[in-house]
Amino acid sequence: MLQLKDFAVSLAHRAGVLLMEKFDQSIEIHYKGDINLVTEADKMSENLIIAAIRQNFPDHGILSEESPAILAESKMRWIIDPLDGTTNYAHGYPFFCVSIALEKEGRVILGVIHDPTRRDTFMAVRGEGAYLNGKRLAVSKTPDLNRSLLATGFPYDIRESNENNLDNFTVMAKQVQAIRRAGAAALDIAYVAAGRFDGFWELKLQPWDMAAGCLLVEEAGGKITDIMGSPWNMLLPNILVSNGRIHEQMIAVFKSAAG
Ligand code: IPD
Ligand code: CA
Ligand code: CA
Repeated sequence: MLQLKDFAVSLAHRAGVLLMEKFDQSIEIHYKGDINLVTEADKMSENLIIAAIRQNFPDHGILSEESPAILAESKMRWIIDPLDGTTNYAHGYPFFCVSIALEKEGRVILGVIHDPTRRDTFMAVRGEGAYLNGKRLAVSKTPDLNRSLLATGFPYDIRESNENNLDNFTVMAKQVQAIRRAGAAALDIAYVAAGRFDGFWELKLQPWDMAAGCLLVEEAGGKITDIMGSPWNMLLPNILVSNGRIHEQMIAVFKSAAG
């Protein structure tokens, strides 16, 4: 496990160095949809990460945002977002990260989220706690929703779909201290583990947005369900993570927003 942990951390750092080299330079941008973009940096970071995994663990599977799945049936599977917060990155807004998780037989056992602009490396091993740059993490102790700082995001089909989270946002915004839409879901989730946010929810995320962060939150003593309070897994259409104390209060708000 130590070898896997060191490998994942060093890989996230290498990808972070690459992202910082390209940050603020004019980079090539392609559009996957009206507002969903991918940059040359996403691809370069992904190539670096996939090549290293293939070289060191050729029998491991890989699920990564910008590439077809590799060895999908493998017992061990890496789940990767090579650049979470691409829109921020492309605009020179310094809030983005690399997210690397390792799953064993369908259960995430290792998660690393690295923010190269702040040199924040969040890391968790199942059963061994969550850490930020070596310091043990715990979720916040905020007991009340009206004193809470939350985070959320909106899906790329915000213009076309009514399932765009705007209704939840409108109702929740009046019940809390504040809500941030920082633009990198993996980092938002890591911030819940670190107690910087009291809770986070979003719709239509993908496994690579959530895998590493959710282990961090679990290991930091937080709670994860879907937004109606049902048990969560990575294939569900929405997620709610919190410090545990405000969890039921958040669910009550989503239920009221749903009518
Ligand atoms: C996106 C970011 C954003 C979230 C989107 C994600 P990307 O990931 O995490 O905060 O609102 O739903 O798709 O495209 O920057 O990797
Ligand atoms: Ca992402
Ligand atoms: Ca991404």
